[in-house]
Amino acid sequence: MKNYVILISGRGSNMQALLDARLPGTCSAVISNRPDAAGLAWAAARGVPTAVVDHKAFASREEFDTALTAEIERRGADLVLLAGFMRVLGEAFVRRFEGRLVNIHPSLLPAFPGLHTHEAALQTGVRVHGCTVHFVTPALDCGPIIVQAVVPVLADDTADLLGARVLAQEHLVYRQAAQGILEGRCRLEAGRVIWTSDTTTGAAVLRVPAGA
Ligand code: GRF
Repeated sequence: MKNYVILISGRGSNMQALLDARLPGTCSAVISNRPDAAGLAWAAARGVPTAVVDHKAFASREEFDTALTAEIERRGADLVLLAGFMRVLGEAFVRRFEGRLVNIHPSLLPAFPGLHTHEAALQTGVRVHGCTVHFVTPALDCGPIIVQAVVPVLADDTADLLGARVLAQEHLVYRQAAQGILEGRCRLEAGRVIWTSDTTTGAAVLRVPAGA
């Protein structure tokens, strides 16, 4: 069984979805950069080990990254899942975990990197929006795409309504991606994502919910 860690900064609904999915691996820790992250209590109540590496306790980004690296390696993690982790990670960190560092982003990348993606989607007038699970590369919200889900943008949408529609899909695709990696059916090879076995069809990597 492989070990994975989940990194959070806040409420941790993606973390909950991952832990509820009973992935084929062991969650050796939920780690937060914020001591007050609501997701920590939820994980602890489930018996999952938790840890805090408070970014405010470090003078530089590099020192924080070094401490975070040590905490992750102490947990023996084969896979690092960023789930609403709101700190930019430096190049050395990203390179160290290359191929086993995964993020979820609430847009159809490469559209709308960064924050406030639902507002940006509404302002731009796109007809479809969604989320992306990707391997992390040093460029922010970039990297080889593992799976995406598409949702419609409706005429009377607000950022909150659209965000909720996207979030429901985040919970499904993150589980799908993590399961594929932990089972060895999905990997990063020469900068591209390779899915093997029955997941080579488009339907496996692009999720379009019924009614979209
Ligand atoms: C999600 O929308 C995720 O895609 C983004 O931050 C949000 C975190 O939500 N990176 P939660 O903490 O998983 O509920």
